[in-house]
Amino acid sequence: MLLHNLVRRASPGSAFLPLASRTLHSSPRASMPSDKISDYASGQAAPVWPQDKPLALTLGHFVPAREGHPPAGAVPADIVPEGASRPKLFDPRVQLSASNSGLALKNRVIVSPMCQYSAKDGFPSVWHLSHLGSWALHGVGSIMVEASGVTAAGRITPQCLGIWKDEHIDAHASLVSALRTVAPGLTVGIQLAHAGRKASTWSPYHRGEKKHKDYVTDAEGGWEGEVVAPSAVAYGEGWITPRELSTKEMEELQEHFIRGADRAFQAGYDFVELHAAHGYFLHSCLSPLSNKRTDAYGGSFEGRTKLLLDTVRAIRSKYPNKSLWVRVSGTDFAEHVEADGQATWNGDETKKLAPLLDAEGVDVLDVSAGGLVPFQKISPKPAYQLEFAAGVKQTKPKKMLVGAVGMMEGDEYPGQVAEDALQRGDCDLILLARGMMADPAWTEHAATELMGVRCAGSPQYHRTHPAKRPPPRAQNHN
Ligand SMILES: Cc1cc2nc3c(=O)[nH]c(=O)nc-3n(C[C@H](O)[C@H](O)[C@H](O)COP(=O)(O)O)c2cc1C
Repeated sequence: MLLHNLVRRASPGSAFLPLASRTLHSSPRASMPSDKISDYASGQAAPVWPQDKPLALTLGHFVPAREGHPPAGAVPADIVPEGASRPKLFDPRVQLSASNSGLALKNRVIVSPMCQYSAKDGFPSVWHLSHLGSWALHGVGSIMVEASGVTAAGRITPQCLGIWKDEHIDAHASLVSALRTVAPGLTVGIQLAHAGRKASTWSPYHRGEKKHKDYVTDAEGGWEGEVVAPSAVAYGEGWITPRELSTKEMEELQEHFIRGADRAFQAGYDFVELHAAHGYFLHSCLSPLSNKRTDAYGGSFEGRTKLLLDTVRAIRSKYPNKSLWVRVSGTDFAEHVEADGQATWNGDETKKLAPLLDAEGVDVLDVSAGGLVPFQKISPKPAYQLEFAAGVKQTKPKKMLVGAVGMMEGDEYPGQVAEDALQRGDCDLILLARGMMADPAWTEHAATELMGVRCAGSPQYHRTHPAKRPPPRAQNHN
């Protein structure tokens, strides 16, 4: 209805009319048979990607004026209310000092990477900008772009983001530049990933009737025959058995991660994170449950950590001035099988790995957990993975910061769980995923509603700021 009115109001010579008409008439969705539309709505049919037929939308290069406004999410001294103490979550300058990147975050709140299954051929889409932009507007300290395949076959699903070819660079550069434009001072990173034995699977919302363990076949746009892992061990019963990579192919995989980092830095990302968690390739090297190799990449702790450490070392020496992060699973959550004589990746091994990563100049160790085996035992509750981050902090990293993730938001008071963890010294950074999607203004709410500390917002959103919304709220002078 709104679009219809706009089209009607536009004068015949206006540039607006052709744009709106094209949008209405050339949209792939509008030209679809109606039975397809309802199929797609219920997740049964192939999605229709706008990139196939560009909508011809052109966004202007408007840069919001921020004169007199500190960066969104920052808490400069003069906006801390009198009598309030600044929470640690809002330390004004969180320096990452393990690398020579000079990178500093404007607070300790980080958007955890979240796959959106919304890319075609690995390219970021308008969805990614909207999704990530929601947090850029609301002042997070940093945003990490979701797991992005360093090879096409290393994607979890055919709709996952990628960074395996040079053609991806421009699209990522546009994404980073748009996010920084709307949120000056924002740090943006990307997670580099290879899905290993969990590749070529269905995304949760393209799956339809299929089960999680049903692979996307070649005919369906997957790469069933190219699912690879450190060892030919299936994730679980009924899952495909991956092909074990040769020693040479393990070395080549390291090169793919380096090329991914090359492209990410060319696109302007502030940091890259190596995804060595959640059962994907690098994690499945670490764990003795999934790594049964007998060459230099298997067996001992040194062998199982070799690919990760070699990759870290290579990226660090090639990019001494860039920030490098690593996500690990602090445990496989499978300690219960150790009693049966099965070794697992656990908190002790994570604590052994941490000083090595610290010594290699990793800026942040982002400590998640689980995802390697279907028989993991997890009891989700607020801060349920924090003990593994706290374990790493006990190793007293010299320069590396430690991130905690996993329900780090409270039910009633959004920032309290995070702030308590920081105050205790259990971690240095807080990563949030589901809580952030549920409340894109989480950062502002944590600052203002919980701790009575104002944090700067986006000037365009000033009417929403709790500190500027005194009752009565009904005034409307716009
Ligand atoms: C929709 C969704 C997508 C996710 N995708 C990724 C991903 O790309 N990489 C990753 O390391 N973790 C991913 N995760 C895990 C989150 O980053 C996070 O570790 C987990 O959800 C626990 O944090 P939370 O309790 O704040 O949600 C994803 C989680 C969700 C909910």
